[in-house]
Amino acid sequence: MVSKQRVFSGVQPTGKLHLGNYIGALKQWADHQDEYDNIFCVVDLHAITIPEAINPKLFRAKILEVAALYIACGIDPAKSTIFLQSQVPEHSELAWVLNCLTPLGWLQRMTQFKDKAGKSDSIGTGLLDYPVLMAADILLYDTQKVPVGEDQKQHIEFTRDLAQRLNTMFPEAKLVMPAPMIPPAGARVMGLDDPTVKMSKSIGETKKGHSVGLLDTPGDIKKAIMSAQTDSDNEARFDHCGPGVRNLLDLYLVLSGLSKHEIEEKFHGQGYGALKKGVLEQVMAAVEPVQARFNELTKDQAYLEETLRQGADRARGIAASTLKRVKEAIGFVV
Ligand code: TRP
Repeated sequence: MVSKQRVFSGVQPTGKLHLGNYIGALKQWADHQDEYDNIFCVVDLHAITIPEAINPKLFRAKILEVAALYIACGIDPAKSTIFLQSQVPEHSELAWVLNCLTPLGWLQRMTQFKDKAGKSDSIGTGLLDYPVLMAADILLYDTQKVPVGEDQKQHIEFTRDLAQRLNTMFPEAKLVMPAPMIPPAGARVMGLDDPTVKMSKSIGETKKGHSVGLLDTPGDIKKAIMSAQTDSDNEARFDHCGPGVRNLLDLYLVLSGLSKHEIEEKFHGQGYGALKKGVLEQVMAAVEPVQARFNELTKDQAYLEETLRQGADRARGIAASTLKRVKEAIGFVV
């Protein structure tokens, strides 16, 4: 039997998880969980790279919220490993080893670092080091495929470069080269208020009407969709429309499963109001069961925390053996 490929991905417990995270990530992961050997992580150590944003009570709640949303979106802890990064200390330990092998220039060049650092006047070393911890996450599990958005491609390239460097210096480390797995184009959801930017967890937290939060009330979801930006035309066509209408049409396409032709026929001659109502129905049909499962899970925190501990135990078994291999390759006494 050919063994399944290892998949690893993670979401930071910050901001407001939204429809774009569902369509582009969580739902995809859940739909493909039988094909791969999956490890899904709540990357809480990454979340403290902007320490000013951390409020301990809210942080703890957000970590558990994201873990519960993984399960509520259909990731089954019996099939996939779900765990909290901070419960597996090997991540921090491999990150140290990798740090010592990372040229500073590689980190200073990263576009995400330059973006984030440019917005703040006091930056922590952790923010610069973010890609090294991410590389540790991926390499610890001999990961072959990393499902991430387009914006994370540079981080995967970085991980490959670092793995190559370590393997060249210490061949016995035998780190596995990971490859990104980018979701299909239609799975990229844009901001409802501004369809030129990707729907964002951080913008959605402060700006009403930007995103559909997976835990938003039906009233807020309705408001966000009905006030979505469109254009001055009124015919919904995939090839002749502005980015706002295209975003709504793409949402309808991925959520309904209908063809482009069927969708254009359905809304023919009815204006954008009808399209928005149609999108709203589809979105509610997707979000309602997620919210129902989420509410069930939050009633039983003990179950959730126990599930995460079991996930961490399994993850740790794999991570510890990779770390041992790397330490031995370097000459540590293990
Ligand atoms: N940087 C990723 C993001 O912001 C989160 C992340 C951290 C991650 N470690 C990872 C994603 C490992 C995939 C694999 O989306």
